[in-house]
Amino acid sequence: MEFTAIILAGGQGTRMKSPLPKVLHPVAGQPMIARVIGTCRQAGITQVRVVVGHGQSLVKTVLEPLNVSTHVQEQQLGTANAVQSANLESLETDVIIMNGDHPLITDQDLKNFISDFKEQQLDLAVITVELDNPAEFGRIVRKHDQLVSIVEAKDASMETLKIREVNTGIYLAKASVLKKYIPLIKNNNSKKEFYLTDLIDLALTDRLKVQALLSKNTDVAHGVNNQAELAEATKKVFQSKTKKLMENGVIFIDPQATHVEEGVIIGAGSVIYPGAFIRGKTAIGAFTVIEPNCFISDSIIGDSVHMKAGSYIEQVIIKNKASVGPYARLRPETTIGESAHVGNFVEMKKVNFGNKSKAGHLTYLGDAEIGEDVNIGCGTITCNYAADKKKYKTVIGDRVFVGSDTQLVAPVTVESDSLIASGTTVTKNVPAGALALSRSPQVNKEGYAKKFQKKSES
Ligand code: UD1
Ligand code: CA
Repeated sequence: MEFTAIILAGGQGTRMKSPLPKVLHPVAGQPMIARVIGTCRQAGITQVRVVVGHGQSLVKTVLEPLNVSTHVQEQQLGTANAVQSANLESLETDVIIMNGDHPLITDQDLKNFISDFKEQQLDLAVITVELDNPAEFGRIVRKHDQLVSIVEAKDASMETLKIREVNTGIYLAKASVLKKYIPLIKNNNSKKEFYLTDLIDLALTDRLKVQALLSKNTDVAHGVNNQAELAEATKKVFQSKTKKLMENGVIFIDPQATHVEEGVIIGAGSVIYPGAFIRGKTAIGAFTVIEPNCFISDSIIGDSVHMKAGSYIEQVIIKNKASVGPYARLRPETTIGESAHVGNFVEMKKVNFGNKSKAGHLTYLGDAEIGEDVNIGCGTITCNYAADKKKYKTVIGDRVFVGSDTQLVAPVTVESDSLIASGTTVTKNVPAGALALSRSPQVNKEGYAKKFQKKSES
């Protein structure tokens, strides 16, 4: 779309009371500024200019991969001065001006504004909303329905403060309008700032086509100025995500108590219990159950998977019909095969765990290739980290039975169909079909128990 976005993100955000620049505060896991830029992209706006100021070096590092141009506003002299910093002379398209701290605006909102602006062939438009509590917002003054001016709350009379229609801080303008009028704005107001709102007065004086476009979505005016407004924005994003998922047949026991980030995909018929936190690029199939308090990040989970309570899953692939947990910890680069079972207090890191294999209890597997239909007994440990501070691999073939309390000292290979007796420390490769056993023979000394107990009492 032939439109340029100018996003104002130079302000300090004093009321956030936080060392982080305001626009870097995350809303549902994504920095506010990245969210606003992402929304522009979804609306088809390819050219994005961001005005930075306070905390600019940190803000720039976040902007770096987002393919935007950054423009430094040396001193925060007001919103008009911020726009002026965006190299207006080089503008070739119509422009939408947005605030970096209004994270709830949607691509559909932007598309609506742009199509209204084009349809009505306007020179300048300001987006407004009606609020029950207009608080500190600039008031929209109309005469016979026509926009007359925007008055900042601080400069407004008691009568003007009663107006409920407010300035969202979003404007659409022809490039020529910005080029001509922004430099003419003066700072004769209570804050001694260059107000972007004065653009309206200048354009109206010159009889340009200017409109206040009333948006039904009041969320476009949700500015984040403090931590409470940030938390509220995050809550709204999570709620709208669960709502969308429910519309697509995902079952939530308590949607308010469940957090699913926007990028997550979940198939119909899956059930998500309260306390689940699902983030990043996670995809979950159909008919999968995620029990309470599971944390799932950047993972691919198949159909009919059962993830039991309290599991912690990062960058993992879990195939169809597998079951995991309760209290499983699966770390990056782990794949759990189809119909496999990973039980309680099992940790895995960099493991390929084959179809139908089982590790039911209290086990650590790291840097391991584990075949199909393998049984890993309780208390099995791969000793993958050696004294030379290097990691070594354990390879286990198909249908191996690993008895309880086995240590596999890597590098080691256990071939298919073999059996490892419980309590064995495996230090040598085990050939296919063999029994591996390393136990010191048991000695029973008759009557010793009593003797020993007496001794220790005295
Ligand atoms: C502004 C509007 C007000 C509107 C409100 C909506 C003006 C004068 N007032 O007020 O009518 O109701 O937004 O939220 O425009 N910024 C800079 N550089 C500056 C000043 C601000 O980059 O020198 C950025 C801020 O980071 C922020 C945005 O511009 O993203 C808005 O600035 P802010 O100071 O929050 O304006 P408001 O006083 O809220
Ligand atoms: Ca603001």
